[in-house]
Amino acid sequence: MKSDINEQYKIMEKIRNMNLNKNLKYTIYTMGCQLNENDSEKISGMLEQMGYTFTEEISDADFVCFNTCCVRENAEDKLFGKIGEMKRLKEEKGTIIAIGGCMMQEKHIVEKLKKSYPFVDIIFGTHTMQKLPEDIYNILKTRKRVEDIIDIDGEIYEGLPIKRSDNLKASVTIMYGCNNFCTYCIVPYVRGRERSRKVRDILLEIKELAKEGYKEITLLGQNVNSYDGGDGYKFSNLLRDVNRIDGIEKIRFISPHPKDFKDDVIDAIAECEKVSKIVHLPLQSGSTKVLKMMNRKYTREEYLELVEKMKKKIPNILFSTDIIVGFPEETEEDFLDTLEVVKKVNFEQVFMFIYSRRVGTPADKMENQIPEEVKHERFNRLKELVESQISVNNQKYIGTIQEVLVEGKSKTNENFLTGRTDSNKVVVFEGSEENMNKVVKLKIVSEHMWYLKGELE
Ligand code: 5AD
Ligand code: SF4
Repeated sequence: MKSDINEQYKIMEKIRNMNLNKNLKYTIYTMGCQLNENDSEKISGMLEQMGYTFTEEISDADFVCFNTCCVRENAEDKLFGKIGEMKRLKEEKGTIIAIGGCMMQEKHIVEKLKKSYPFVDIIFGTHTMQKLPEDIYNILKTRKRVEDIIDIDGEIYEGLPIKRSDNLKASVTIMYGCNNFCTYCIVPYVRGRERSRKVRDILLEIKELAKEGYKEITLLGQNVNSYDGGDGYKFSNLLRDVNRIDGIEKIRFISPHPKDFKDDVIDAIAECEKVSKIVHLPLQSGSTKVLKMMNRKYTREEYLELVEKMKKKIPNILFSTDIIVGFPEETEEDFLDTLEVVKKVNFEQVFMFIYSRRVGTPADKMENQIPEEVKHERFNRLKELVESQISVNNQKYIGTIQEVLVEGKSKTNENFLTGRTDSNKVVVFEGSEENMNKVVKLKIVSEHMWYLKGELE
């Protein structure tokens, strides 16, 4: 709400004055998906507004923020390890420690934090991020721990300051929350119900980005193709409107849900020249039985039909996907079904996950959980298949001319630049300063599994 944000701006100003001439620094440790990264850009925006400047070095920071994810279990161990390390810093220089994001919407995690890590200053949730200035103000004034978590469906706050991590590619969140309740997934419980930003706000943000020189936009949401702009305005309308914005050259989006991938979205991808022709289509499992238990609302056949339909309508389309192995009751046969779909679709990229039990989700209570060693063994077999497909797919690039958006210098060799093809493959090539931030034509000369090598045409 506008009045709430105005209030936060006033507090940011007060803190800025308090911090004057102190040369205070902040750092943010972001876990999880691009939505979290986009949130962290807003947290950075607020902190800079309050007079903090960014540092990579946690030991230099006066303010440390952890933006957490809880989709899989290993994130918890990582987070607690990192926070443990903060104790000494806190004692030495009084660093303010804030922990926010998805994991903080889980009661058992907050309890553990309060009990075992009492030196943490601020705990905030997914629905209260915009109140960080107020929380910081309270800490500066009282030094008493602030806990700011609410359990609601959430509102949308426009107009927060933002400090973007890139000057070429930008993420724009178009909707928050999720209504799907896939049985393995914690997201609907920690991010609340689906709510879409207003069309006008989204288009305004992207037009501003185009003016600032941004070339590539990624539209973000847990389920982007159920975007609802009101009065029948759907995700396909948004794609077409963004496609018309001068200056933007590439449009990507994550993640859509196969069940909502209707013809209007397929037609928009086909007809909008700027929309990337690599589509992320999360499969999760190739077994209809497992898909049903996951509450995915499509069968193996429906998924494959959708892929076929899209291949017919969109020449040169490529797919990437997410797959979970070792979901409860997944048999060897079910797993082979997944491998079969992977072979058939021939994904360009597969994000592979080992099923992780999440407290509070229906799948956590299912019987016949799969033993860890079986999960790992299946994961390795899937990985082998995916890697063999990638190396065959990479061969197809050799000798072709690719349009590549140049992102920066190679980390390992000063004379080389890196960029990405439309299909999101990293390409490394010998180039100069003048190629930076532009789309160049490259002839692909060799492949190296995770990147291609190119030469300027
Ligand atoms: N265990 C493993 N993977 C999960 N994902 C979501 N929840 C879980 C879980 N409990 C994966 C899904 C989703 C991606 C973002 O994370 O594949 O698409
Ligand atoms: Fe989780 Fe399913 Fe929603 Fe994706 S669509 S966020 S996997 S519940």
